[in-house]
Parts: sequence; C-alpha cells; structure tokens
Amino acid sequence: MARILLVDDEPSILNVLSTLMKSEGHESVAVRGGVKAQDILLSESFDLMISDIRMSPLDGMQLLKIAHRERPQMAVIMLTAYGSVETAVAAMKEGAFDYVTKPFKVDELLMTVQRALEFTRVRNENDDLRRQLEARYQFENIVAESPAMRRVCEIIGRVARTDATILITGESGTGKELVAQAIHAHSARRGRKFLPINCAALPEPLLESEMFGHVKGAFTGATSTKEGLFEAASGGTIFLDEIGSMPPGVQAKLLRVLQDRQVRKVGSNESVAVDVRVIAATNDKLETLIAEQKFREDLYYRLSVIPIEIAPLRERRDDILPLVRHFVRAEIRDHKDLPVFEPDAELAIERYDWPGNVRELQNAVRHALAFASGGRIRREDLPAKVINATSALLADSAGPGDLKGHSLRHFLRAKEREYLSQVLQSYGGDKEKTAKALRISLATLYRKLPSEA
Ligand SMILES: Nc1ncnc2c1ncn2[C@@H]1O[C@H](COP(=O)(O)OP(=O)(O)OP(=O)(O)O)[C@@H](O)[C@H]1O
Ligand SMILES: [Mg+2]
Repeated sequence: MARILLVDDEPSILNVLSTLMKSEGHESVAVRGGVKAQDILLSESFDLMISDIRMSPLDGMQLLKIAHRERPQMAVIMLTAYGSVETAVAAMKEGAFDYVTKPFKVDELLMTVQRALEFTRVRNENDDLRRQLEARYQFENIVAESPAMRRVCEIIGRVARTDATILITGESGTGKELVAQAIHAHSARRGRKFLPINCAALPEPLLESEMFGHVKGAFTGATSTKEGLFEAASGGTIFLDEIGSMPPGVQAKLLRVLQDRQVRKVGSNESVAVDVRVIAATNDKLETLIAEQKFREDLYYRLSVIPIEIAPLRERRDDILPLVRHFVRAEIRDHKDLPVFEPDAELAIERYDWPGNVRELQNAVRHALAFASGGRIRREDLPAKVINATSALLADSAGPGDLKGHSLRHFLRAKEREYLSQVLQSYGGDKEKTAKALRISLATLYRKLPSEA
C-alpha cells in the first residue's frame, strides 16, 4: 500500500482518482488546487503525487518544483490535457516520473502508478544502501569532518580488509597511531594482536632482538631464547612507529622479512614463517632521508604499497571544533552538564595553528577543563601558548561590527549561527521542528549550534 497525494482543481477528477487508488489498495489524500497541495507537502510525506498541470494560482509545474525540493524521494505523475505534449515533456525535464494525458485511460494510469511506485522503491533502497556504505567509512572514535580526514577514513574503509602494507605519514600528533588501530580494528585480524613498536626508542641491537627475537647466547646478556614482536603478533598487525629512525641494519632485515614473510631470530640459522600485517608510520620526510642515504629506497617502496597522508590540523580546520567537542565528551561523564565555551575561547581555538596537532588540542582541552569555573570556559582558561599566539588576532577583530581579521569561513559560520538561533527561537526552541524547517538533520543542527543552545 502506498500513500498518494492527488491534486486537481476539478472535484470530479479527484473523485475518480480517489476511487481508483482505493480500488488498488492505496491510501490517498485529495486536495483542490496547487496552494493546498503545497501546504500539505510541507507537513506530510507521500510515496507519489498525481497532479494536474493546468491549475491556478499555483500551477502543476510550480508545484512540481516545490515537490522536488521538499520531497525529493516522492515520485510525481503529471496529468496533461490532450495535445499539450510540450508541457508534459517540460515536466519530465523538471523531474516528473511520467505524464498521463487527460481524459486518461484507467489501465494506462494504473500502470503508470505501479511503475512510478516500483521505481521510487528501488531508487530509495539504493539511496539507503549508499548511505549505509558511507556510514561504513565512519569510525566511532575518529573525528573526521574535514574533506581531508574523510578521505583518510574512506581509504581506511577500503584497505582495512586487505593485507596490504601501509605507510602512514603526518606530523607529530596528527593521529597516525589512531588510524593504524582503526585499520587493524576493521580488518579480519581484529581478534588478534596489534603490537606497536617505536623504532626510535631503542638502539640497533635491542631493536633488532625486540622485533625478531633472539636465541639463548646470541649476545652477552641473552640468557634465554626470546620471541620477537613479529612472532608475538602472529595473525595480527605490527605497527612500526617512527620508521624513519630505524637503523640501517634493521632496515635490511625488515626488508627481507617483508619479502620472504619469514623471520630469523638473532643468532639463529632457522627461519620461521610469520603471518603479520605491517603498518608503518613516520613524521619524517622519507624522500629526504632516502636522498641523504639514511633510508633504503627499496624498503620505502615495500612499505608504501598504500600510502596514507594525514594533513596537519591547521590545514583541516573544520576538524578543530568537532575534536574539541569529542574530547570534552570523553573527559566529562555527565553529558547533560557539558561546559560552554565562550566565543573568545572558541575563536582562539579555531584560529591557533596547533603545531602539536590533535595531541596538543587534546591537552589544551584538558587544561581548559581543569581551569574552567561555573561551567564556562574562557579564553584565559586555555594554555598560555594558545592565548599568547591568538591575542593579536583577537584584538584585531574587536568591536561588534568590525570583522577585520576574520576568515570568510569564520564570518559565514557566525552568520549561520545567528540565523540558526533565530529560527530556533521562532520555533520556541524546538530543535526537531527547526531542523525540519531548515531541511537539515537533527544531528547537523546540533553540530552547528553554539554549544550553549
Ligand atoms: N581524528 C581524530 N579523532 C579523534 N581523536 C584523534 C584524532 N586524531 C588524533 N586523535 C587523538 O590525538 C592523540 C594523538 O594521536 P596519535 O597518537 O594517533 O598521533 P600520532 O600521529 O601517532 O602522533 P606522534 O607522531 O606524536 O606519535 C591521541 O589521543 C588520539 O586518540
Ligand atoms: Mg604515534
């Protein structure tokens, strides 16, 4: 059973249409004229609209445009007078599913209705599938509002299930380890271990035995045989952090492991097969290290089968405030009692350059929460570095009408908030109605509103 809106300014036609739809088991609502139809379209949803073209004051073509805008998922069939094919064609161009000429043949009309309903059902199903697919590439704990970060998530979604070796590059604190964990968590290896090792933290012999293990007596102090990380991570993922600092000897051994998928403990002649996925990360420019002969080019190619580059936070500022909200929620258990950021504090956070990237931002949020009082976070509550670096910028943009020093995005966002607040007020604070009126999802509305609204 479908829900069908019938629009005509002749009551006799409406009667016939209603009877026909009922006989087919559909529920229909019949309205006289375009104006009434417009009203009902704004408040109710239908699977299909059948509308006459010639009506006044609001005719079928205008109504079609409104229907398309308000109810993009609804199919529309236009009724046209015999001989006015041009209007009918124009209607199809505007997105009508089909047209039927008046006086219509019952069979033809019912066939068209059936086809229209089938078509929208399939199309809407496709839309749902596509949305599900998009949702698949969102990861619970990764904030990704900016296009750059969304692309990263999309790559994670695509490559997680493969066993391809991955090289993640990005400045310190951009989220390289988080991305590596997400890849592991969404791979078939997720039930197995994810073992990180920092290649910069250990001197060559220790790093080597840590990674590949050693046999008893391999060197002074090797009192017993030790399993390396590659064996320990069997079936899972190994995360080689700061790979740019890996000593040359270890690089050569790693290259062999990647080629042969076998490891040999230090001091042993025997190789054992290992089944480990390798994800490496670095904040060095490996190309430079290669040019300086500090990093093996062949290893670089082995590692960067799939390169993932994470942009510094200052180049994806759309992520900043969503990250702030994410960290505040992570710190504060009672989500009904979240602190409010004063506009100055928010502005400083948005405009600071975050050389330490997301990690620095996370620390700044912790700092601010510790210093906040009365549920408000003021600019003074931020770390001194952030305050100092942004005070000139803020002084520059003092005064209500003075927008000097603001980016266009900041200006647009301020205007957007102003407008959202007005609409929200006009609906007496009802967020659901506001979101509906603005034709955005409730989640988007929450995201866009200033935190105290
Ligand atoms: N997009 C993000 N969404 C949520 N949290 C993030 C995001 N990016 C980073 N973080 C958080 O920021 C912190 C730093 O991230 P991570 O340790 O992954 O960075 P990194 O690039 O490995 O840094 P380093 O180069 O210093 O090792 C972590 O607490 C991480 O959870
Ligand atoms: Mg790291």
